[in-house]
Amino acid sequence: MDKHAALAEIEREMEIDAALPLRPANLVFGEGNEDCAVMFIGEAPGAHEDRLKRPFVGRGGQLLDELIRGLGWRREDVYITNIVKRRPPENRDPLPGEIAAYRPYLARQIDIIGPKLIVTLGRFSMNYFFPEAKMTRDRGKAFLIGGRTVFPVYHPAAALRSKEMMRVLKGDFGKIPDVLAGRMAAELPPAAATKAEAPSGRRTRNQDGKGPAKAGPGFF
Ligand code: URA
Repeated sequence: MDKHAALAEIEREMEIDAALPLRPANLVFGEGNEDCAVMFIGEAPGAHEDRLKRPFVGRGGQLLDELIRGLGWRREDVYITNIVKRRPPENRDPLPGEIAAYRPYLARQIDIIGPKLIVTLGRFSMNYFFPEAKMTRDRGKAFLIGGRTVFPVYHPAAALRSKEMMRVLKGDFGKIPDVLAGRMAAELPPAAATKAEAPSGRRTRNQDGKGPAKAGPGFF
């Protein structure tokens, strides 16, 4: 099965999975270049996304598009999705059970697309990969997990509410080409570093793909 067919199959399974929470909101599966190097992962669809069944098409999405264009890329060059693929009522935060229910589908989606770099947008998406991570401490750093690089940044919607966050988000986006090209040293995930290290600090590692954990189907 080719990538496109494999992704279409996951989307079909999600449509008929009656156990998935947040039904009957529309399924917003994700879109973009299925052969991308960079995948952006947000939190959950909002009202605009639910209506159009497309991720990041509201004000936050316009900012995301602008930031992507600022790198000299087009939205169509990357892949964009969310950890939770239906809109929570009133745009409330996704619940742990909702994130867990959608997790196996996102894990398969990531495995099939196979991006070199995942940019997480906001706290929930960052904590999906690194439960111990803290946004103020860990954003703008590259982490190796399962043979992939994950780069957490602020959520665009948060940046629209704060000039300071906007400044930081733009700065972090500016680092993406270096992260992608392996010019920025990747760190071990926050939790692993904390467990394995003396209090004096973190280990860093070149992006040689030899992370502590092996990538494999459903790793994430
Ligand atoms: N916020 C998100 O996290 N995802 C979207 O798709 C839209 C807004």
